[in-house]
Amino acid sequence: MKPSETDRIKTSILIGSRDASNMKRYFQKDGTVVKWWNPEGMKPHKNPLFPLLPFYRKEKKDVLEICASTDGPILEVGCGDGRISSLLAKYRDDPLVGVDISREMLRKYVEREGISGLQLIHCDAENLPFKDDSFNGMICIQTLVHLPNAEVVIDESSRILRDGGKLILDINTPNSPRVLRLLSLVRSLSDRLESVLKLIRLQLPFTTLRNKLGPAILRNTRFVTLILERYGFNVRLYATYGGSTAGFALFVATNKKHSPL
Ligand SMILES: C[S@@+](CC[C@H](N)C(=O)[O-])C[C@H]1O[C@@H](n2cnc3c(N)ncnc32)[C@H](O)[C@@H]1O
Repeated sequence: MKPSETDRIKTSILIGSRDASNMKRYFQKDGTVVKWWNPEGMKPHKNPLFPLLPFYRKEKKDVLEICASTDGPILEVGCGDGRISSLLAKYRDDPLVGVDISREMLRKYVEREGISGLQLIHCDAENLPFKDDSFNGMICIQTLVHLPNAEVVIDESSRILRDGGKLILDINTPNSPRVLRLLSLVRSLSDRLESVLKLIRLQLPFTTLRNKLGPAILRNTRFVTLILERYGFNVRLYATYGGSTAGFALFVATNKKHSPL
């Protein structure tokens, strides 16, 4: 059987872990993500993500701009400690909800920002406690990278978004399919060599990252576009950030669930 385009470009790389099944457990635990995710507040020498800082800032500005033209209720999935939705809460009158799987991040959100103007809920992005057609916008920034099942989250977003609602979603990607394939090869080789390398006390970049950051998945831009389309979204690749070795891509996908066949 000929592989479909989605099969051919499916390349995704898991970093920071050997096994995607422990991703949720990692983020549910205290003392994990809270230690390394504060890209704009951490001192440069303590911040493993410091080189990406200008891109995080630019992306945040873009997301706020997109939200400014979105009326109605907005949900932020993986809101963390409020880097993005706390800014929205300051000027929006429409309902704003933030959800996250980490109770510790939600506590930090409340301590730092308070909760005036928004509602915070502890839950899993793959199982959102909202009725169909509840929101006009869903933000999912620097979060799909930590979710093992992109399709499940995209399916959920299509369910809770109204017709015409916007999904503002990013993926972490080298922005070059070739580099992604190469990294994938290095990843599988490093897994095979890991026990030997341990003996000679050598650490490959993936192992080093594992000790600093949590589990993360790099994905292919075209692959995610096709998945979004499969779930009925009109997809716009809004911007890419970073270079061809490390970066991310921002999509604005419009929900077309009720479009005529
Ligand atoms: C890198 S932080 C990004 C936070 C925020 N979106 C921002 O841009 O500042 C990723 C967030 O996703 C959350 N997260 C990870 N897995 C999740 C899941 N299955 N459901 C909901 N949130 C999750 C983490 O707890 C963390 O707060």
